[in-house]
Amino acid sequence: MVNPSGTKALAQELIISDKVDYLGGFVFTPNALAVAPLIQKAKVPTVLFNAATSIIVKKSDYYVRTSFSLWQVTVPMAEWAWKQGIKTAVIAVTDYGPGNDAEKAFRTTFEKLGGEVLDAIRMPLQTTDFGPFMQRIKDKNPNAVFVFLPAGPPSFAFVKSYNENGMKDAGITFLGTGEMDETTLEALGDAALGITTAYHYSGAHQSDKNNAFNKTREKLFPGSASNLASAGAYDGTHVLYQMIKAVGSDRTKAVDSVKGMAWESIRGPVSLDPDTRHITQNVYIRRVAKDENGKLINKEFETIESVPDLGLPK
Ligand code: PHB
Repeated sequence: MVNPSGTKALAQELIISDKVDYLGGFVFTPNALAVAPLIQKAKVPTVLFNAATSIIVKKSDYYVRTSFSLWQVTVPMAEWAWKQGIKTAVIAVTDYGPGNDAEKAFRTTFEKLGGEVLDAIRMPLQTTDFGPFMQRIKDKNPNAVFVFLPAGPPSFAFVKSYNENGMKDAGITFLGTGEMDETTLEALGDAALGITTAYHYSGAHQSDKNNAFNKTREKLFPGSASNLASAGAYDGTHVLYQMIKAVGSDRTKAVDSVKGMAWESIRGPVSLDPDTRHITQNVYIRRVAKDENGKLINKEFETIESVPDLGLPK
């Protein structure tokens, strides 16, 4: 839930009353931004498990990010789309930090390659009725619609509307990042088959590490799914652990201690960029397909290696 003032009050309580040394979490960008002055002043290392607008890590020296940024995954999406012969696109994003980053990243990359953006639609965060947006997209008759909405219910409602409004049959290819979230994928059903997105993690990522993670997750939480939140928290916890191990009670040195750190994640090889404190990682092009049990998954088929946050000046 987007609630910057509530988040700030809770963080204040944790830092001042409970005297916590580290913070971790933060799904929504506005919530993360709201605590930046607090963690800067109190020198509290804070690991962002999700919030994905590039600028956040610039707002405090105490931020480290183990999720992704919209620039990081959108540039590869735009490049891939161009390579497929997609020449025209409409952009449709949720109108706040990550959506605005996604819009800019897609437009900049796609136009530089020679593509044409026919319309850019900014949708309110609270919207649940996407019918009118589908009509506006259809009217432009683009080759593709590039989309960003927060993963989970908003993305689900948008994709459902895309399917129900016959957008695919109208020849409008869906392009996105985290909209095929594993927690809602099954509910989209076969209509999702073939949808292509670019992202840093798929629950179906093929590696021993991810297979072991999936097994343990299923044992602990039967019927759950591995998704972006799993990867962000898995690595966020790893970074918190390493910081505490390296510096003990002197948390002021904690962020420095993990700059440049590299490890193997459930998403593949990753490292922390010493300049931006943001995670450098592979970006995968994936397509919704069925696994051997008939379950819908994001099947990775192309890898762009070692991508930094392309939205931050180095
Ligand atoms: C964000 O607010 O930064 C955010 C939230 C949900 C996502 C991605 C980014 O799926």
